[in-house]
This record gives sequence, structure tokens and C-alpha cells, in this order.
Amino acid sequence: MGKDKGLAVVTGASSGIGAVYAERLAARGHPLLLVARRPDRLARLQEELSREHGVSVKTLVADLESPSGLADVEKRVAADDVALLVNNAGAGGLGKSAEMTADQLERIIKLNITAVTRLSHAALTSFRKRDAGALVNIGSVVAHLPSAGSAVYSASKAYVLNFTRSLQMEYAGRPIRIQLVMPGPIRTEFFSSQGLSDSVFPTEAYLTAEQLVDAALAGLEAGEEVTVPSMPDVRTWNSLETARVAFMKAIMSGEVASRYHLTPQGSRPVRPGA
Ligand SMILES: NC(=O)c1ccc[n+]([C@@H]2O[C@H](COP(=O)([O-])OP(=O)(O)OC[C@H]3O[C@@H](n4cnc5c(N)ncnc54)[C@H](OP(=O)(O)O)[C@@H]3O)[C@@H](O)[C@H]2O)c1
Repeated sequence: MGKDKGLAVVTGASSGIGAVYAERLAARGHPLLLVARRPDRLARLQEELSREHGVSVKTLVADLESPSGLADVEKRVAADDVALLVNNAGAGGLGKSAEMTADQLERIIKLNITAVTRLSHAALTSFRKRDAGALVNIGSVVAHLPSAGSAVYSASKAYVLNFTRSLQMEYAGRPIRIQLVMPGPIRTEFFSSQGLSDSVFPTEAYLTAEQLVDAALAGLEAGEEVTVPSMPDVRTWNSLETARVAFMKAIMSGEVASRYHLTPQGSRPVRPGA
């Protein structure tokens, strides 16, 4: 984060993780721009944070699933006074894809993928000119958890993972910070707003939004690229990375694996994961 306490933009600031980011950043002295659809929630937070922390708090009511709402935020994020963007707004759409309409599935893609991509691009275009700025993308541990109850959601978070990790490589060596935050289960309105109970995961698996954000900000301040607050041992992440590198090495043989060679009896290949 900029030492000058430049403007921090937080999407999805009207509840949960985003609202806690807003509070913690205001407490650190950042002027804020809060983005979400619910004007009443944003106005309440604006009043509270400016009163308690004496910082300028502006709001932008926008639906990031709509092209016009996204364009408004994109334009604002591209301005040269933005020091930090927290791409936090996200929707779950939990449930079987067969029980949802294609339009419902596409709305998750618009919010979790298109908006994150366009806003990251807008912020980085501006950061590049100044060689300064920080981008925080809120992913999820479900990036590694394909599941029958969250096909598009987990796929969208896998996108956020690869997208953000790739941006980190692209911007390596420049004084621009890019952090991927991967929450596990967090007690917010995320589940209740989808008509699900908080007991989707075991009770003891949940962190509060405050715990998550405090850890994520500590990770950002420490220059961490990937922050998984509920993972006690970083070797867990490192072993995933090691497996990924080994996988890439292993597929460079330039040969078709023997299990795909048809035998005279026409035996069928054994598929990976079968
Ligand atoms: N809670 C968890 O267990 C968990 C775990 C892993 C990752 N995450 C991720 O954490 C992020 C925040 O989620 P949360 O747990 O804090 O849930 P939340 O309390 O439901 O907050 C979601 C936020 O996104 C905003 N939002 C939703 N649709 C929007 C749209 N179309 N346009 C603009 N803003 C929109 C909501 O505001 P309005 O409704 O006012 O627009 C709200 O402020 C999401 O990206 C989520 O995927 C959460």
C-alpha cells in the first residue's frame, strides 16, 4: 500500500469481507471509494467510517454484472489517484448447475471473472504509468475444489487463481504489488444470501471476516503473493506448487503415453482421474 495513503477502492464493500476491508483501510488512513449495489448499506458505512476515522469516504452504487455499471467503476479505477484496488465483490451461485438457468450461470461469470479481469486491467494500466499501486484479488480455496454443488463458482475462482498468478509473473520486478487472497469458509452473508445455512462446512472450519482481512492485510504488508489465512503450514501450498511444476515437466515428453496405444484387442485407454 502506498505510504501516501492513496485512495483505496473496495468492491463488494456493503457486507462481509469487503465491509471489513473498508473499515481496516479507513483505520489505516486511506481515503475510500466503496462499490456495491445496495445504496443504503454503503451510505451507512460511509457515515460510520468517515465519522470514526476522519477519512474521505465516497460511494459508487454499481452493478458489476451490468456493462454500464462495470464501465463506471472501471473508469474510476483507471484514474491516477487510486493506490489500492480490492477486487472483492463475488457471488456464489451454489447449487447444481442443472438446477440453474444459463443466465444465472453467466451472471456469476460476469461478476467473478469479467469484472475482476476488467478492473484489474484498469488498475494495472494506471499503476504501470506510476510504477506504484497494489491490486488485491479475492479468490477462494475452491479454486482447488471442483464440486458438484459449485461448478461455475469453483471454476470462476480457478480463473482468479491463474489470472492473478499470471499477472504476478508479468509484473515481477516492478514496484507494483499483486496479491491473491484465498479464503476458506468465512462467516458472512455469502451463504445466507443464497438461501444456504452456514453449516455447509463444519462450524470449526469458519473464520470471521475480521480474522480473514487482518491476515490478508498482514500478508500484503509482508509482500506475500498468495495469502491463505486458514492454512497453518505454508508447506501445504508449497507442495501444491511442487506438484504443479512436476506435472508440467512430466507432460513435456513429446510422446503419446503408452496407455493410449491401442492393443490388437482394441483395449481402451485408462483416463487420468478415472
Ligand atoms: N464467505 C466465504 O466463505 C468465502 C470464501 C471464499 C471466498 N469468498 C469470496 O469473498 C468475496 C466476498 O464475499 P463475502 O463472503 O464477503 O460475501 P457477502 O457478504 O455476500 O458479500 C458480497 C459482496 O459483493 C457485492 N456484490 C454482489 N453482487 C454484486 C454485483 N453484481 N455488483 C456489485 N457488487 C456485488 C455485495 O454487495 P451488494 O449486494 O450490495 O451489491 C456484497 O458487498 C467474494 O468474492 C467471495 O467469492 C467468500
